[in-house]
Amino acid sequence: MSQTAKLGPSNGQVNGKTNGVASSAPALETNGKDTLETLEAANVTEEIVDPFCDPKKPIKISFHDVTSAAFLIKGGVERTPCPKSTSSESYGMDLYLKKDFLQYTGSFKERGARYALLSLTEEQKRQGVISASLGNHAQALCYHGWKLNIPVTVIMPKAAPIMKVQKCRNYKARVIVEGKDMAEAKALAMRMSQEEKLLYINGYDHPHIMAGQGTIGLEILEQVPDPDAVVVPVGGGGLIAGIATAVKALSPRTKIIGVESEKCASFTRAMENKGPIHTPIKNTLADGLAVPKVGYNAYATAVPLIDRMVVVREEWIAVAILRLVEEEKCVVEGAGGAGLAAILAGQLDDLKGKKVVVLLCGGNIDTTVFGRCLERGLAAVGRLVKFNVEVIDRPGGIHDLCKLLTRMGVSIKDIMHERAWLNDIYTVEVKVICETVDWSHSLQLKNELKKNYAKVKFSDVPLALSQK
Ligand SMILES: Cc1ncc(COP(=O)(O)O)c(C=O)c1O
Repeated sequence: MSQTAKLGPSNGQVNGKTNGVASSAPALETNGKDTLETLEAANVTEEIVDPFCDPKKPIKISFHDVTSAAFLIKGGVERTPCPKSTSSESYGMDLYLKKDFLQYTGSFKERGARYALLSLTEEQKRQGVISASLGNHAQALCYHGWKLNIPVTVIMPKAAPIMKVQKCRNYKARVIVEGKDMAEAKALAMRMSQEEKLLYINGYDHPHIMAGQGTIGLEILEQVPDPDAVVVPVGGGGLIAGIATAVKALSPRTKIIGVESEKCASFTRAMENKGPIHTPIKNTLADGLAVPKVGYNAYATAVPLIDRMVVVREEWIAVAILRLVEEEKCVVEGAGGAGLAAILAGQLDDLKGKKVVVLLCGGNIDTTVFGRCLERGLAAVGRLVKFNVEVIDRPGGIHDLCKLLTRMGVSIKDIMHERAWLNDIYTVEVKVICETVDWSHSLQLKNELKKNYAKVKFSDVPLALSQK
């Protein structure tokens, strides 16, 4: 680290003054009930500065920090595989997939969490740590805190998925569900860190977190020597900061490419702004990347090492999730599939013929969201289409339509018909959602329908294809 802050258990700052309000503020409830009200009653509206993530003194990690992390976490986290993709040829590149979603809690976050916990002083280990997180960082911290016998408190905003909350509880952590969003959850966590003398561990900007994530870079270079590029999804920036630090030190010619969703391109925005800036976030499939303001340490470390940032459209993330299930038998979450999405979208075509590693960094996808992603992915590439067709309202009318679909090898997913709004009393409108082999098969279906029926309304060109 270019600047090392040895953190005592209670040196958070309010308004620049160390522990400025801690002694006069009312004690906080520890079960999370009424905590926000207490926070408001104490009139603590100023942001409490995390001394490890001070905007005025950003900390850059070094290669040495990453190797120290690798040494310390060895044996405590999985060394995940990085095989060649079975579809390498169809992508036109030597594509390798670093499968870090295979960590026990389903994401790379364990690396940083374990390193941060192992780096605590004995006193800090006894007191415990606190963090605010929507999911992956919380799970990683709770799991390793449990394994290392270090008390962990996580504040999860009310929007956090129930399953993720439950998992953290299963790891015996103190889990407080409070705050309408991450900002509120974090404000509470910072406040509690002061009140209870718990060290706050930022999930993407704490230097030990970044160094821990960097160990992925070391593994990649051992598994795939001399890659032309490493493609990394970016949220708060800690992951790419760590990986870039490791990779550029050992293989300076390897390109580091960051990928964000169009709905939360806060790192790209920060680079345009020449510093972290609040970026409004929209609903995204890649919820792991939805960080409105990237970390100051992460930004300072990563920016000089990143070769390119790419912003992908959401449809391509859905297609990537679908492809990874169908072709690689990998279940990843949106954030985990963002790297492949950039390749599928044709945004990394300059890497054709090259050796490329894509990081699949998380697999914690909500089951219902997963189902929706697969459907959207199918629709985005034109394999799930819908059409309306008017057929004759006599015995055999709909039967003939179904025969046409059978002949074409098309599978009906949904079918309904209605009459009341049609001009012609002897016709019925049939609405069909069906699955085809690909978009050209869908176009054949469209032609066949047009040949046989006068009134046909067919799906538009699928989103993913129209944007390529
Ligand atoms: C699955 C997954 N991928 C990528 C990221 C981005 O990591 P970072 O915030 O360090 O940039 C996250 C962050 O939570 C994540 O959960």
